[in-house]
Amino acid sequence: MYYPEEVIEEIRQKNDIVDVISGYVRMQKKGASYFGLCPFHNEKTSSFSVSPHKQMYYCFGCGAGGNVFTFIMNYENFTFAEAVKMLADRAGVPLPELEYNEETKKKESRRATLLEINKEAAKYFFYQLRSKHGQTGYEYLRKRQLSEETMKGFGLGYSNKTSNDLYLYLKKKGYDDELLKAAGLVSYSEKIGMCDKFWNRVMFPIQDINHRVIGFGGRVMGDGEPKYLNSPETEVFDKSRNLYGLNFARTSRKNNMILCEGYMDVIAMHQAGFNQAVASLGTAFTSGQANLLRRYTEQVLLSYDSDGAGTKAALRAIGILREVGLTGKVINLEPYKDPDEFIKNLGKEAFEKRMEEAENSFFFELRILQREFNLADPEGKTRFHNEIARKLCNFTEEVERENYIEAVAEKYHIGFENLRKLVSSYAAKTGLVKETARPKSGIQSREKKEEPGSRARKVLFTWLIEEPKAYPIVKKYIVASDFIQELYVKVAEKLFAQLEEGAMNPAGIISMFSDEKEQREVADLFNTKLEALETKQDREKAFRDIIIRVKECSYQYYTERMGRDVTALDKVLAGKRALEELKKAHISLE
Ligand code: GTP
Ligand code: MN
Repeated sequence: MYYPEEVIEEIRQKNDIVDVISGYVRMQKKGASYFGLCPFHNEKTSSFSVSPHKQMYYCFGCGAGGNVFTFIMNYENFTFAEAVKMLADRAGVPLPELEYNEETKKKESRRATLLEINKEAAKYFFYQLRSKHGQTGYEYLRKRQLSEETMKGFGLGYSNKTSNDLYLYLKKKGYDDELLKAAGLVSYSEKIGMCDKFWNRVMFPIQDINHRVIGFGGRVMGDGEPKYLNSPETEVFDKSRNLYGLNFARTSRKNNMILCEGYMDVIAMHQAGFNQAVASLGTAFTSGQANLLRRYTEQVLLSYDSDGAGTKAALRAIGILREVGLTGKVINLEPYKDPDEFIKNLGKEAFEKRMEEAENSFFFELRILQREFNLADPEGKTRFHNEIARKLCNFTEEVERENYIEAVAEKYHIGFENLRKLVSSYAAKTGLVKETARPKSGIQSREKKEEPGSRARKVLFTWLIEEPKAYPIVKKYIVASDFIQELYVKVAEKLFAQLEEGAMNPAGIISMFSDEKEQREVADLFNTKLEALETKQDREKAFRDIIIRVKECSYQYYTERMGRDVTALDKVLAGKRALEELKKAHISLE
């Protein structure tokens, strides 16, 4: 991990969760907890709860939950390290300097200077746009229907007709030639000496997610070649790992991201209220960018140009999104060329409608593919169906593949069983997927099935948190490895160690995991809804049943692994003993 565990824990303790969350959510005290409307899903009644005692939050509606770090990560779209930094600042806890060697220090300070140069340049362009020289630029942008507020928000500017004014300006500020070249803003030629990269263009500063300017795009006003000129990649500008507009989109709190092709598209979209729009940086969409998007959303709506080039780019992007596990949908912009023009002509509501109607990316692919075949000709039709079957083989998950086969068969009027056979024969040939039995009911939920006994393990965790005095009983029969799943076992080890010391601290366990998904899962373990049991007998019986269930699942699990895992035999024998004892034992929760 990034910082020592003690520091993380100190920061957590100094940021009371009720205090922090009150800054974001209006809450009311009810019993021992505070309740409010969940900020992570739409709801009308309060199912979002914050427990000052546990220092955790949990939403009974959507399952969001965690400690104060998880909340900030979720709400602000921060990484764990970013959340730590913010809460450290808030509580005035100094973060230890991370140890850097000389070389890293030099590199960091050089990066900082390059960022400074970019910022100065952006300010210079911004100022030029509003000066006399920049009038044509300003008029150009106004003609493209950008408001003053939008221009300011995106920091748009103008580079003069003079070929070295930016160079002279930055030189006067004290930056040397080598650095200015390294920033990609000037170049040297024998004939004219140092000269600006951008002239007579409207300028689009490109910002990273922390709003730092890392490069520029410049557009000619009117026709001219090249239409856009972009900064080269530099030590601070990695085109494959940044997206235009992401600095705003990341906190848009929408449940999707809209991926466009151009800077102007992004700006027009944001101006119309679609502040979740982003674009790649004058280069094709990359898997680095897809991974970046995955930090913020599960669904990407593609809003690429409707022409041939745009369609091709969309097909490529779909593949890349799929590789990182994001689902893409395609927005139809017909009859307009790009989202900018669409919105200008039909407006925001019409675009919203198109978003709702966005096409599943697989069907989009098929629709484009279909154009290559003459379906009136049996020969062409057969080849098309074969091609479909080949593509269907790429769904390696059985349920998903079956669902697609079903949907495609219906849409393209192919007999379901025929298509299925075709897919199987392809799969057999290429060895991609195994022949599978058809699930009995039609479309099935894609949710992963829970491991057997998961619920009992969760209930046991929650029970221990709510009632730590039950621990001595639990530890008679249960050990950490009985929790089977890797994450559960880790949590059990930590929780048991805390309980041994009589210092239970579930919220502290959560921040031992730096991945937001894991934090959420851990929070879930501590917040399982327990059945309301009236009598002492009922409670004791339930408690005993849960312990037995956890132990039995563990026994089963390790029995199955005996051949493969050398430690399994011990666990099985111990499990058998414990189960025999348990069946005889009376459990008292006094
Ligand atoms: P407008 O024509 O101003 O509406 O631009 P646009 O945003 O619609 O751009 P377009 O669809 O033509 O291109 C999409 C993106 O590709 C642009 O935002 C640029 O990043 C990039 N691009 C376009 N033309 C060029 C070019 O001539 N050279 C380079 N390097 N990139 C370009
Ligand atoms: Mn355009």
